[in-house]
Amino acid sequence: MTRVDYGDLIPNNVDLGDDKRLERALASWQPRYLEWWRSAGPQHFASSDVYLRTAVSVGKEGWANFDYVKMPEYRWGIFLAEPAADRRVAFGARRGEPVFQEVPGEYRFDLRRLIVVQGDTEPASVEQQRHLGATAPSLYDLRNLFQVNVEEGRHLWAMVYLLHRYFGRDGREEAEALLERHSGDVDRPRLLEAFNKPTTDWLSFFFFTYFTDRDGKFQLHALAESAFDPLARTTQFMLKEEAHHMFVGATGIARVVQRTAELMRAEDSDDIQRLGGINLSTIQRYLNAHFSVTLDLFGSEGSSNAASYYAAGLKGRFHESDRQDDHHLAEASYPVDSPGDADITIREVPALQALNVMLQDDFIDDCRKGVDRWNRILSKAGVDVQLALPHRGFNRSVGAFAGRHVTPDGRIVSAAEWELGAREWLPSEHDRDVVAELMQPCTTPGEFASWIAPPETGVGGRERDFAYVRT
Ligand SMILES: [Fe+2]
Ligand SMILES: [Fe+2]
Repeated sequence: MTRVDYGDLIPNNVDLGDDKRLERALASWQPRYLEWWRSAGPQHFASSDVYLRTAVSVGKEGWANFDYVKMPEYRWGIFLAEPAADRRVAFGARRGEPVFQEVPGEYRFDLRRLIVVQGDTEPASVEQQRHLGATAPSLYDLRNLFQVNVEEGRHLWAMVYLLHRYFGRDGREEAEALLERHSGDVDRPRLLEAFNKPTTDWLSFFFFTYFTDRDGKFQLHALAESAFDPLARTTQFMLKEEAHHMFVGATGIARVVQRTAELMRAEDSDDIQRLGGINLSTIQRYLNAHFSVTLDLFGSEGSSNAASYYAAGLKGRFHESDRQDDHHLAEASYPVDSPGDADITIREVPALQALNVMLQDDFIDDCRKGVDRWNRILSKAGVDVQLALPHRGFNRSVGAFAGRHVTPDGRIVSAAEWELGAREWLPSEHDRDVVAELMQPCTTPGEFASWIAPPETGVGGRERDFAYVRT
């Protein structure tokens, strides 16, 4: 197991101390990062003690150490998963060759782009979530929010390390730009649209961590297959942290659904908001909005970029190495949903042109599992309404479905019919007001807001009524 030196200015398992130039470059980026954290990270709570886990080594044991930390003093570090012996390129034209330990000149531009796009999402989500601390439904949830935030900060560090270490001056400039762009900024917005909308309430936060962090999971899995070994090892370790973010989303929504189901049963009515719960129909509308915005993050269905990344071995498929095919895909085809004038048909297209859709399909399958679990909570409570993922063509702004009028159940309708239906399908101003009103902070240990059930257990070996945040 690689040792992590906490005596270093920047905790790391990449022997940073042996590369003085790199260490100096990162040490000069660090104060700007902290400045960014203070101005764009979680509002208030800078001096609070938060019960956080910190990575201290990348082995099976001990990468998650829990203790009280003040967030600006969190030990953001650089951790790569252990190298695999004799690792080979698993796909594309160079399949079977040793993986790259440096950036091949011909892939420099594409690799830098992939790292910058991934890196941009990390600080963006911290910026989007910065106001949520004021309305947390419990100290347990407040801790989870901050855990997600500091780890997204660490993911930025992970990408900045790659830029500084492997991309010279261009990389250093990109690392600066990652702190200069801001979520929602008119002049310098974040690169991807879903990361430019503020996360205004906790129902949105839970759906964001369920859907949008899960897009992150699939992007990271695709990069974890990369022939550029430092990128593969970096993303492999990021995936461990990412799992917690999706846990926050999946259990967060499960607890909201649980409380909603209890109130519906007690009241024998769908309309439970006067009891302090969130109506199931509102939950469905939020689900529709977050799912459709997240699907846009996968890019266009037919992507020549994705095809060239694949051929070069830079970005693979989900679980690429475990798949039983030729890993070249030159002859293969793949079914893709294609909207026509009146209906949606399935077209077989060359598989290399459909890599974004493949990743999206794997993502959708994964999303469905959570929805099934939420529906079991509803059934068990005796509620006969269910939640559902909308059709992939619903409410899209990117790709073949952009500008098309697709209903949540997958029918193509007229613009007028869609506009009328959208009132039922997407959160209205009224929904957002009702949810916003429910967002009253709950800051007594062990107490939970009216709209969410307590979690089954605490976190980091603690009880549910533990003082996870001490202000
Ligand atoms: Fe992340
Ligand atoms: Fe995340």
